[in-house]
Amino acid sequence: MTPLELALSCPKAELHLHIEGSLEPELAFELAARNGIRLPYADIAALRAAYDFEDLQSFLDLYYACADVLRTEEDFRDLMLAYLRRARADNIVHAEIMFDPQTHTARGIPFATVLAGLEQGAEIARREWGMSTRLIMSFLRHLSEEECMRTLDEALPFIERIHAFGLDSSELGHPPAKFARLFARCAALGKPLVAHAGEEGPPAYIFEALDILKVARIDHGVRASEDPALLERLAREEIPLTVCPLSNVRLCVFDDMRQHSLPALLAQGLCVTLNSDDPAYFGGYLGNNIRAVQEAFDFDAATWRTLMANSFRASFVSEAERAVWL
Ligand code: ADE
Ligand code: ZN
Repeated sequence: MTPLELALSCPKAELHLHIEGSLEPELAFELAARNGIRLPYADIAALRAAYDFEDLQSFLDLYYACADVLRTEEDFRDLMLAYLRRARADNIVHAEIMFDPQTHTARGIPFATVLAGLEQGAEIARREWGMSTRLIMSFLRHLSEEECMRTLDEALPFIERIHAFGLDSSELGHPPAKFARLFARCAALGKPLVAHAGEEGPPAYIFEALDILKVARIDHGVRASEDPALLERLAREEIPLTVCPLSNVRLCVFDDMRQHSLPALLAQGLCVTLNSDDPAYFGGYLGNNIRAVQEAFDFDAATWRTLMANSFRASFVSEAERAVWL
């Protein structure tokens, strides 16, 4: 078996996936028709042609616009099920999935509708395919901390159904410190915390996410390679990074895959995991990320074993649950 075959075939976890970012153009048009909505694109090909991003913001503008087709519980169920079906084909057995409630509640979709639909999809995948999932409720950092506080208030009646909290959306100009009080409240609820940091933002944002927000994991973190002291700390404290290689290339964080900091992060002994971020928009699911990484770096079998073991080690499942897969 080649190292690539090993990586593709072994059971794995995905820890950085925005469910709204798994909305394929085909499903977007299907949901638009079902809900009587007109997308501002003539057809699937025209929408796909718009997937030419110059940075994170240019992607987010399209991502939020497409999310408008998600209206009903059934829509969120179908979205979740489509992702999990595709994830299963990549031998993903466990997924920790982010959702952005504010993208939907701002349009008048009740929090309860979003959550119930996503849970229905996850439940079908558990029953039919034995897949395990956790939901991470993510706050949009381009909004004010007060707005996010109100969203947290809205989530409180459902708090037992939310596993963890995260922070995403436009990073530059919205440092983690802006959400110090919000994350203190989330921590007091006893939930694990994650935050996007060091995707487009500087290493200082990663330090803030650790020191101020007290996150257990950093989403992306790829700019950590610019700061030796940060690398040393991430290694010492065994802070996992959920790296999304195709995303970083598509959003021009790196000019091409060969420039990616992944080998440097691994060389420092960091707990790196591979993930697909927004697979519908960035050229593929986890399997496609693995192929692209292997083409660029030709990793050996031991490196792939480490990466796949890291996906469980960095997850929020218990040792006992993990033992089933490892
Ligand atoms: N929301 C969805 N994808 C994201 C990304 N890559 N960075 C920040 N926010 C996001
Ligand atoms: Zn992300």
